[in-house]
Amino acid sequence: MVSARRPLVAGNWKMNGWQRSTAELAKILTGARALAAKVDLLVCPPATLLSGFAALASGSPVAIGAQDCHVEPAGAFTGDISAEMLKDAGAEAVIVGHSERRSHHGETNGDLRAKALAAWRAGLTAIVCVGETGAEREAAQTIAVVQRQLDGSLPDGATAQRLVVAYEPVWAIGSGLTPTPTDVAEVHGFVRERLGARYGAAGQGIRILYGGSVKPSNAGELMAVANVDGALVGGASLKAEEFLGIAAAYR
Ligand code: 13P
Repeated sequence: MVSARRPLVAGNWKMNGWQRSTAELAKILTGARALAAKVDLLVCPPATLLSGFAALASGSPVAIGAQDCHVEPAGAFTGDISAEMLKDAGAEAVIVGHSERRSHHGETNGDLRAKALAAWRAGLTAIVCVGETGAEREAAQTIAVVQRQLDGSLPDGATAQRLVVAYEPVWAIGSGLTPTPTDVAEVHGFVRERLGARYGAAGQGIRILYGGSVKPSNAGELMAVANVDGALVGGASLKAEEFLGIAAAYR
């Protein structure tokens, strides 16, 4: 079957980036022109840089996204940012349920489900992250963990436009380690099956990204795996050359 899914390479800058990092975004925008026919690009900077990045990227093939949102549209929630505010700042997507949010902020599948719904309410695409820890993989719990996370965190009514799933094995994040293509194929195939069972035909169009130590040197191999529709990139997304080098796997 020929896939109609357009690949997406997304950069998660995490808590990195300054006003001067706008220069790095400018380099990404320049390099993106040659790639835009084949791949969607998304940069998710910290909230302090959102509106500046969105203004610079406006009219370019690069979309700007955020890394988390609150479930309420506005109110007395000191320090939080709503999905509507992210949209207002120029974001088109928001990552929810990154393992760093799950582990450092105790976010549960139920919290993520509410955040994904908040993203949709605001007109944002929700990028929902799932993935097992090293101990869970060693205990052969990978599929069970991913199934629990998907079932608990994905709301009803997903479409290809509203939802992206990112499979990020926790042990592969920032470690330089990656699963084998066979292991990636197993999990992505399983996620595809669950999306189909849950959303029918729409589930076939939902993109499933792989994340965890993606680099230009391994992107070709990982992006070629069945049901891998792109990458969610951490460290390597901070350098335009590396980020574009990963997207070039789709050239
Ligand atoms: P690294 O690419 O730095 O391993 O991070 C992956 C990640 O957590 C992206 O969300």
